[in-house]
Amino acid sequence: GKGNRVSWVCADCGHTDGQWWGTCRSCKSVGTMQMFSEGDSGNRHVVERTWLPQKPEQVQPMRLRDVNKGISQLNWRIPLSGPFGNEVARVLGGGLVPGSLVLVGGDPGVGKSTLLLQMAAIIAEGRDVGECAPVVYVSGEESVEQIGNRADRMEIGAEELFLYCSTDVEVPVFIPIFLMTDLSDLFLCTTTLLFYLKDVTGSAGGLTQVRECTSALLRFAKKSNIPILLAGHVTKSGDIAGPRVLEHIVDAVLYMEGEKCSTYRLLRPVKNRFGSTDELGVFEMSQLVLQVVSNPSQMFLREPHSDSDVLAGLAVAVVMDGTRTFLIEIQALCVSGSTVSRHVNGIQASRADMIIAVLMKQAGLKLQENAIFLNVVSGMALTETSGDLAVAAAICSRHVFSVAGPLLTSSTNSYCLSIYGHFIFPEQMKANLLLLFSFLEFPIPNGIAFIGEIGLSGELHMVPGMEKRASTVAKLGYEKCIVPKSAEKSLASIGLEQIKVIGCENLKEVINIVF
Ligand code: TYD
Ligand code: MG
Repeated sequence: GKGNRVSWVCADCGHTDGQWWGTCRSCKSVGTMQMFSEGDSGNRHVVERTWLPQKPEQVQPMRLRDVNKGISQLNWRIPLSGPFGNEVARVLGGGLVPGSLVLVGGDPGVGKSTLLLQMAAIIAEGRDVGECAPVVYVSGEESVEQIGNRADRMEIGAEELFLYCSTDVEVPVFIPIFLMTDLSDLFLCTTTLLFYLKDVTGSAGGLTQVRECTSALLRFAKKSNIPILLAGHVTKSGDIAGPRVLEHIVDAVLYMEGEKCSTYRLLRPVKNRFGSTDELGVFEMSQLVLQVVSNPSQMFLREPHSDSDVLAGLAVAVVMDGTRTFLIEIQALCVSGSTVSRHVNGIQASRADMIIAVLMKQAGLKLQENAIFLNVVSGMALTETSGDLAVAAAICSRHVFSVAGPLLTSSTNSYCLSIYGHFIFPEQMKANLLLLFSFLEFPIPNGIAFIGEIGLSGELHMVPGMEKRASTVAKLGYEKCIVPKSAEKSLASIGLEQIKVIGCENLKEVINIVF
């Protein structure tokens, strides 16, 4: 018989092995293999449950043609109305799929319970207008009164919202059976990781329990066609019941992210059997509920761009996250006379070093004697090379250019005369200019956005999604967009009338045009 078969499961990636390894053979993490015992007693209990498709006659393969006949029905998704609902639906790939098991992971306090309660409310309220389903919100961590209290403050008054407090995984599974007649009409919200199955070994939250409970919920979801949302505190490392084990079981995993000090919350699918993982939902925490941020660029940009509001060392980059484009601001500060150092925030240090080196070598900037600070506003991280050009522009705007050539080597910064049309100045004048310009800064005029990757010889390269980025820039009311020359043609063909697209071959050209 099966006996007490022992397997080893990687807490990080969920890879299962017949024996223990010091290093996971799949993801190469060290010391993550945990013993997992498929105890006889553990499974027998589960097998007897009626909601498991275990009886032979239930296990019948379906004819493809029959499956396809019902496909339009299979594609049906539970509507999530309102701006909040639409945003969540988009992240889920067009709506909540009946019978799906979705895990919402994130740090404690990030807003998972709030998100789930809001979704529960939307679906339950939809019922009132004859559209949707009753919802059971099961919590393993809060009492019914506490949830009720919270819902009250959130002004949720849905008729069809039921609350239950339990950590026994069979309870959420059996509630619908006792409570409702029509199973296909239900939706469950639960908090995972605290759940346990009575006859499975291990403590609640342990690997065995989490795995078994989640599997049980998945089987239940599939059998009943009830969608289930799980919320789980998901740690990135160390935890036995690591996220990866769950990720393999559930249909979709959404990560909720947000800085402690920021009110913005991002919802990002890292796995989705029913849609793309290239989506990103952007929310803002209000007093009590999550609200949609319709224009995410607002998050990262200063308040309205007015003429008086020109600041040196600020350049706008266009980045893509999933299918969405964002405008973010890159700040630079160059402090001359101090020791050489770079301080980067939100930008890859090696990338910043490369851009600085290219600026020195190919654009003649004297950055050797500077401490350079780079920062991405709003704590966003710049992970794409598309932001290179904005980083360079921000540095240029802060830094006072030096005259090209060995003529004017000065410990102070000097201004690159070529920018104003290659004037030839007498030596003395140059020196005066040096003095003058060394304390000046050159703000980038408002309404310019930069897209492009910088190569080692200062040349500009295209990045994926040029059209999408440029049209976002246009939509947001910018006047000019600096792009690589090679992208000019394709951008001209999509007809962006509101905006002037300026193609540049290299950094020098960009500097000539912008400053
Ligand atoms: P909660 O949803 O309980 O976080 P999690 O379930 O991920 O641990 O939210 C944490 C706290 O933040 C809670 O006290 C409610 C509060 N909160 C707001 O005030 N406004 C909001 O928009 C959200 C999402 C949360
Ligand atoms: Mg919670």
